[in-house]
Amino acid sequence: MAKIERVHARAILDSRGFPTVEAVVALAGGARGTAAVPSGASTGEREAVELRDGDPTRWAGKGVTRAIANVNEVLAPALVGLEADQQLVDARLISLDGTENKGKLGANALLAVSLATARAAAAASRTPLYRALGGAAATLLPVPLMNVINGGRHADNTLDFQEFMIVPHGAPSFPEAIRQGVEVYHALRGQLTRRSLTTAVGDEGGFAPALESHEQALDLLEEAIRSAGLEPGRDVAIALDCAASELADGDGYVFRKAGGRRYSADDLIALYDHWCVRYPIVSIEDGLGENDRAGWKSLTARLGGRVQLVGDDLFCTNEKLLAQGIADGLANAILIKVNQIGTLTETRATMARAAKASYRNVVSHRSGETEDAFIADLAVATAAGQIKTGAPARAERTAKYNRLLVIAEELAAAARYESPFRRA
Ligand code: PGA
Ligand code: ZN
Repeated sequence: MAKIERVHARAILDSRGFPTVEAVVALAGGARGTAAVPSGASTGEREAVELRDGDPTRWAGKGVTRAIANVNEVLAPALVGLEADQQLVDARLISLDGTENKGKLGANALLAVSLATARAAAAASRTPLYRALGGAAATLLPVPLMNVINGGRHADNTLDFQEFMIVPHGAPSFPEAIRQGVEVYHALRGQLTRRSLTTAVGDEGGFAPALESHEQALDLLEEAIRSAGLEPGRDVAIALDCAASELADGDGYVFRKAGGRRYSADDLIALYDHWCVRYPIVSIEDGLGENDRAGWKSLTARLGGRVQLVGDDLFCTNEKLLAQGIADGLANAILIKVNQIGTLTETRATMARAAKASYRNVVSHRSGETEDAFIADLAVATAAGQIKTGAPARAERTAKYNRLLVIAEELAAAARYESPFRRA
């Protein structure tokens, strides 16, 4: 295995126009890999630390000069000469930081180097990234969860829930799933235009109209699916990310954007139950807040047999938090965001733990993204089966779908596409 010759980080812009870390890892023999780090807005309390300068006179406090200096001055000298072996490199990154939450050097510093190492190693072996990471068995293309109506922290509208997604799980192949998703997206645009609602988009490329209610969003999705000539549920289902940690207030939840009505955990669970009967919903992410463990337990007991319940803020891609959740019977799936934990090796350990407990893995982007499509390869490499990477709009979102289209073409007849949601 080739040795690391050079590690370098620089600041680039993310899709919200804030700086983020990009790292280059160069190996002896000439192979090199580059990777950029995404950034969330509705972040979980227990995520690894995204190191920001906090200097209000530059980049509104969001500068990353300290994270970059940590790569160039601390990580680089310690990694040069080391073999580009992922586990070895990640173990070194973790020990150089030395904290539980990557708060010393920053998860953004560590992750850029960790992912760039994977790319460099794949380049050295002249293997596509998904195959370098997943071997010959890496043939499952993920079902896309496309966020076509944005609310919550990702849009300036009246929707308190953050994401209304379409899930073309019934398609015969990944490229056909993308076509169906895009056709529904465009049908939705047409409906909004006809109702004189804005078709301006939110951070993840979904429309961000001022709707009267969450139900109106769900009705619009069903209608869009139908007007694209598809059957809601059978062809294209619906998924939600309520991002309920953002709505938590004392022992309950408040819909602040829609006027301030309060809900208890039981009220929300009853609402979801009702929606799951009325709409073809197959997946609900962060239906309750990250600290509402009792609520999560009853949510899982009531709906877990029928619907995918995804823990995002609840688990933060953290194997220990996931293990605790599995032991306590919380959720039945986990959202996987590489920057919530900070290294590729830890991400994969969390995914393996989930799979062992029959929890599904949903690989995910962040609301602040770059054109880096690493997660597309990761989803295929790990046979995750699902990817959430926004609407089919905005280049930082389409970069992931486009990479998956390339992978599907490369795999040709070996490519598999399977619905995790098909009803018996
Ligand atoms: P974030 O949102 O990237 O702003 O955290 C995505 C999500 O909550 O899934
Ligand atoms: Zn989420």
